[in-house]
Amino acid sequence: MEAAKELDIPNTSVTKIARYFEQAGLVDVDYKHLKGPKIKFLKTPDSDFKNQTETDLINKMKFYKSFRDIESANKLILKLYNIVVHKGDDESKKIYKAVHKFYTDNFMKQLVDKKIKEPVTSLDKYYFDVDKMRIEVNIIKQEMEAVPFYIISLMKLSDVTRLVIDSIKEEVISKITFNLVFQSHEEEYMVKKEYKIKIMRLMKEVFPDLTDEVLQMYSDYIVLTSLGMGEVELLLRDKQLEEIVINSASEPIWTYHKKHGWLETNIVLEDEAKIMHFATLAGRTVDKTITTLSPLMDSHLTTGDRVNATLKPISSQGNTITIRKFAESPWTITDFIKNGTIDYVSAALVWTAMQFELSALIVGGTGSGKTSTLNVFSIFIPPNQRVVSIEDTRELRLPKTLHWVPLETRMANPEGKGAVTMLDLVVNSLRMRPDRIIVGEIRRKNEAEVLFEAMHTGHSVYATLHANTVHEAITRLTTDPIGISKSLLSAVDLIFVQNRNRRNNTRRTYQIAEMLEEGNFNLLYAYNFKKDKLLRVNPPKAFYKTLEVIAGLTKAEVDSEINDKIKVLKYLVANKINTTEEIALLIKNYYVNKKYILKKIIGGKNNK
Ligand SMILES: Nc1ncnc2c1ncn2[C@@H]1O[C@H](COP(=O)(O)OP(=O)(O)OP(=O)(O)O)[C@@H](O)[C@H]1O
Ligand SMILES: [Mg+2]
Repeated sequence: MEAAKELDIPNTSVTKIARYFEQAGLVDVDYKHLKGPKIKFLKTPDSDFKNQTETDLINKMKFYKSFRDIESANKLILKLYNIVVHKGDDESKKIYKAVHKFYTDNFMKQLVDKKIKEPVTSLDKYYFDVDKMRIEVNIIKQEMEAVPFYIISLMKLSDVTRLVIDSIKEEVISKITFNLVFQSHEEEYMVKKEYKIKIMRLMKEVFPDLTDEVLQMYSDYIVLTSLGMGEVELLLRDKQLEEIVINSASEPIWTYHKKHGWLETNIVLEDEAKIMHFATLAGRTVDKTITTLSPLMDSHLTTGDRVNATLKPISSQGNTITIRKFAESPWTITDFIKNGTIDYVSAALVWTAMQFELSALIVGGTGSGKTSTLNVFSIFIPPNQRVVSIEDTRELRLPKTLHWVPLETRMANPEGKGAVTMLDLVVNSLRMRPDRIIVGEIRRKNEAEVLFEAMHTGHSVYATLHANTVHEAITRLTTDPIGISKSLLSAVDLIFVQNRNRRNNTRRTYQIAEMLEEGNFNLLYAYNFKKDKLLRVNPPKAFYKTLEVIAGLTKAEVDSEINDKIKVLKYLVANKINTTEEIALLIKNYYVNKKYILKKIIGGKNNK
């Protein structure tokens, strides 16, 4: 009945709610009780300090103190803090204040000298909408905890409502069965629509007095979290997140935030089977399977987000899923110049290299932006050329102006058949008469050999490689497991190194080098941390020479090419032209009629 009061719903509905609770095994209901159904909670909707007194909580803190268990104390204080933030009633505030005092006096004082005013600080708070739902995100830093917390919740959802919703969700899921794998956005849309209609009908029965708007919101929440990846779906909709990481069911999901870096979320999955289920779903959309026999999987979701999954016991702590979110709109050279990733001169150098068919490697550490950079640079390819790209999972997005054939590898099916490897595709691409070959990542000897052969026979190749510096890239290429001969390396013209600064989470071009004979290199630019700038190290040698041989350009002509391109790039930045298609169109026109474009741009009033 208390629940009914909180939700402002009539007693008749309580019986219905009670039935759901009963079926969910949460309560025991005595329907024959004189004053209406009497509900006995088998499990309390506990998990906060609603039913605990100030003394209970302080005792808990004392217990933690005796075991020097700061982790549990931190968890408790964070929980209280969240309740105060959400409810803000006087009783909660009073309890929080008392427990907080005990906590700072006993746990904090010994650890830090300066007086800590607030053990929990809010770093950020924002909202985003998913269908009819308003989702709230709180990012919180706690003293003595290395990693801040990312707390996501549906706004205005009390514990009781959540319990009702969860029971309805279970009820509905057990009744409705359909193929959970959607082949297309349209199919997904139709299934969800049908499902939502059914849920709305049920919700109306349970909550006859709630407005349609609120019912819609709850129904959307049920649809979203019961199809697909449950609450992970909420994380997938937060555009601020770059990566979502599930390490096992025994720890919360982690996420990499654009602004705040690694954060621990408030979402914990029930069990390992759930993670396995999500991994299976993520694989099925693109025909990839994950089983105990083939426990590693690369895949992507219909939204383009890249997914990697591993199963126990290969990942010994539990099943894992790593999701790299697909940037809403691909990065462009305009964005890169604006956010300081690269400067005008280097960008113009890359452009010139791309125009005149020089080959290049883009190297960097994990998540340093290699694939994004490869995509940004590919737009400089002239439109009259045939581009074949080869990736394990498709990430590249090239503009319509290019003549592009994307290829993707495939793993073997459970019977061990049907695999299409990177080597298969590299070899095949050479028969497709490509002018340019773009390869997601070089990992193995045989594919590297074929690629370097292709470069030697006049194809331009662009690929990424995992290494932190030019030097390291060369070592990686020439030692096992890649281990190609040093003499082959000179086929690459340029090497770009991308770097992610772990402290402030910025990404920068770290080195640009040209390859010389016999696996030696000449460093052209290097990033200076103090100045936050790419500085010139040596003047190019091979670069000019190659352009002279390939395109018959003198040094002065190459420099003039670079200068013209700087003008175009400045125009892009000044006019905020930052979509792939717009930039591609301008580049196409530049190739078709450079004089006209330069004249138009130089004469244009927006040019600086
Ligand atoms: N120059 C940049 N500035 C800001 N963010 C960037 C930049 N380049 C890439 N990112 C972001 O960094 C993340 C990683 O980018 P990307 O996938 O290109 O890296 P990667 O080096 O290819 O990663 P992996 O090693 O996993 O293949 C993405 O979320 C992307 O949007
Ligand atoms: Mg990559």
